[in-house]
Amino acid sequence: MIQKKPPEEFRLIYKNVDVDGYTIDIDCYRKHDGYKILEKAIKEKPEDLRQEVLNSGVRGRGGAGFPTGMKWKFVDRKSGKPIYVVCNADESEPGTYKDRQIIYKDPHQLIEGIMISAFANNAAQAFIYIRGEFINGARILERAIDEARKAGFVGKNICGSEYSCEIAICRGAGAYICGEETGLIESLEGKRGYPRIKPPYFPAVLGLYQCPTIVNNVETFCHVKHVIDRGGEEYAKIGIKGDSGTHIWGVSGHVQRPGYYELEAGSCTFGDLLYGLCGGPLPGRKFKALIPGGSSTKILRFGERFEGKLPDGTPFDWAVEDIPLDANSIGLCGTFLGTGGSIVMDDSTDMLEALANLNAFYGHESCGQCTPCREGSLWLQKMTGRMCSGSAREEDVPLLKDIADQVAGRTICAHGEAVAWPVQSAVPKFKDEYLEKIKNQASGQRFNPAGYPLI
Ligand SMILES: Cc1cc2nc3c(=O)[nH]c(=O)nc-3n(C[C@H](O)[C@H](O)[C@H](O)COP(=O)(O)O)c2cc1C
Ligand code: SF4
Repeated sequence: MIQKKPPEEFRLIYKNVDVDGYTIDIDCYRKHDGYKILEKAIKEKPEDLRQEVLNSGVRGRGGAGFPTGMKWKFVDRKSGKPIYVVCNADESEPGTYKDRQIIYKDPHQLIEGIMISAFANNAAQAFIYIRGEFINGARILERAIDEARKAGFVGKNICGSEYSCEIAICRGAGAYICGEETGLIESLEGKRGYPRIKPPYFPAVLGLYQCPTIVNNVETFCHVKHVIDRGGEEYAKIGIKGDSGTHIWGVSGHVQRPGYYELEAGSCTFGDLLYGLCGGPLPGRKFKALIPGGSSTKILRFGERFEGKLPDGTPFDWAVEDIPLDANSIGLCGTFLGTGGSIVMDDSTDMLEALANLNAFYGHESCGQCTPCREGSLWLQKMTGRMCSGSAREEDVPLLKDIADQVAGRTICAHGEAVAWPVQSAVPKFKDEYLEKIKNQASGQRFNPAGYPLI
């Protein structure tokens, strides 16, 4: 059901973002109770903090949604080697722009979250790996770290305790693959951002400099702060079982009010978000397709239906508009919540051009280590390119999907899935449109999904 009244936002992570008069300096942050949770946390036992994070059920916000407490549990604490904490601020997934809002508009929240996490994991050194293009973001963070150091929240004897921990900023190398956690670690070590094979290189065991390492996303570290503030069990009451907390939906594309909206997990549907908060389609247009959680998540088609059973056995039959906004429900529809970077396309969109655009990106960003990803992504890029330029055959449509099927699950890192999933989902859902375009091109006509004259 589409709510007439827009759903209420639940601003936990974005509490200070875009608030009139809120500034990014430490004085303003402290006026809004900043660093109080770090002061509280530092008096606790690290293992108790880790237990709170486990109890909260909070899942990582970098895309894969792995439970953070569980990831921390895998850290090898017996090796005697230093433990590192790394904040993944690479944010290169097309359609995703949530982390940069935190960095640009509330940097101390991130620093507080990192310091709590570093203390909880007995780390004496943290890193923020920030996307190379975020020059101002890096400057803002450097300034904020200096302020926090002067105030005793970073560096030696944090909050007057015996605990010391530094944060260093590393500017990224400008490649999408440097956001993949093991590629990021290689890049942080000064090498080319080639992902490592897992196992044995699980960061929790063999990460940065072959030491146990925690890699978490910007937003995840911020959630940790709120988990420690409320306590794990209280935090778990926000959202639903299996997906606690809030999600930031960064909506872009063909809606009246694109932007970011923070909502309690499972509290409303895609319809509520896209019609209620984002104002619906542009005048005279209809929604056609949705990439729900960043460009690597499987595409949804407006008009298709999703049927099945919920974990408690209740049957469901949803259109895209009915899908509840939580990781479990979105997963039941064959796609992923990912980073929540939703890309909306209306009926003026040529779905082949859209796929060609994604294929060009993923082909360009393959690091080239694995044959299926290196070759497959380039073939997909070439094929959709030629389909758009009018020299394709009808057999190319099923062939596209066949190639994607040969990539997924056969590579070192999940970039293979990022290459395959858009194709594997778009081809069956928009096959008729692709075939029509090829047929029209063969007969000299130009394809026009919107039905109005092309210039
Ligand atoms: C190709 C690729 C690119 C990725 N890019 C990012 C990124 O830019 N930022 C991010 O936080 N995670 C990214 N990830 C996910 C990370 O590998 C990792 O799972 C995440 O940072 C872990 O944080 P979390 O547990 O807090 O979600 C990427 C993964 C892949 C496969
Ligand atoms: S899947 Fe692609 S990006 Fe990942 S390691 Fe293999 S070639 Fe590189």
